[in-house]
Amino acid sequence: MKTPKPESVILQTLLDAEPGVVSGAALAKELGMSRVAVWQHMEKLREQGFQFEALHAKGYRLVGRPATLNPALIDAYRRADRAPGVVHVLDEVDSTNDEALRRLSNGDPTPFVILARRQTKGRGRFGRVWHSESGNLYATFAFRPEVEPARMQTFTLWMGVNICELIAKFCRTDPGVKWPNDILFEGRKAGGMLTEARMDADRIRDLVFGIGLNLTPPDGGWPAELAERAISIGEYTRQPVDPNRFAAALTGRVFAAYQKFVDGDYADEFADLWNRHDLLRGRNITLLQGNRTVTGVAKGIDDEGSLLLKPAEGPVERFRAGEVTIEKKK
Ligand code: BTN
Repeated sequence: MKTPKPESVILQTLLDAEPGVVSGAALAKELGMSRVAVWQHMEKLREQGFQFEALHAKGYRLVGRPATLNPALIDAYRRADRAPGVVHVLDEVDSTNDEALRRLSNGDPTPFVILARRQTKGRGRFGRVWHSESGNLYATFAFRPEVEPARMQTFTLWMGVNICELIAKFCRTDPGVKWPNDILFEGRKAGGMLTEARMDADRIRDLVFGIGLNLTPPDGGWPAELAERAISIGEYTRQPVDPNRFAAALTGRVFAAYQKFVDGDYADEFADLWNRHDLLRGRNITLLQGNRTVTGVAKGIDDEGSLLLKPAEGPVERFRAGEVTIEKKK
């Protein structure tokens, strides 16, 4: 792990001590610097929206933190969790996927993740626009996986159930995955995933995994075209989600899930998690693939991650890709 910035160490020390206080002398000792230098770093944190209570002759307590993504705070949470990987936090970017692809092309070492407060050209599947105002989470993880391309078909599904599991534990709620890349609450979309791989002959050169997650509704409410279809975790649970704590936990979970995937050590857990979070099994669905439409009952997935669909007539069919609509229960 790289050497932490003094701001991260101050935050981590104060977070570790909560609800207690930490003396200026203890912070100075932890950082190996003078109390004046510590105070200057605390000033920098105040400028970013942190608030400290100074208790006479006792020390400091963290009493306020910024509402938007903050690199020092994410780093502090991640250090407490000993999370691997490198995190870059940007204020604004066209698309975190595009930024990650550019950095991979530049030869940046992997793994890393780009988090952005907002995107100006957020992209979804099929070239759709991903609504990317500030307040929600836009993240892209970048890897150079040394695995056979054929195995990558389950990658997004494996990541999806890991993220559902994280949301379930972190927010005490129960999201589901709609094959292949949506995260839903009660039929409304709270998140979407976009995995893009670049190939060299028959091997994967590099891969980005993008996730957009709605933590809160946009300030002015959802745009009309999304109002019926979108939901945020905060709206569903009626609890605000701390974006920094959540982002730190997300990075830890995704990097760990990636490692299990690369090590090939995930099949049993994947089957369990898929059964827990699969929203389609047993439901009547319609799948659109190119200009073909198939309606039937969803029967889970096979070992390669293909969707199994039993039409009214004929045997179960497998689909590697496509867009699913869930039919309303009668
Ligand atoms: C979809 O549901 O169609 C996938 C949406 C993926 C959106 C995320 S937001 C972070 C990353 N950057 C992008 O431009 N897209 C993905």
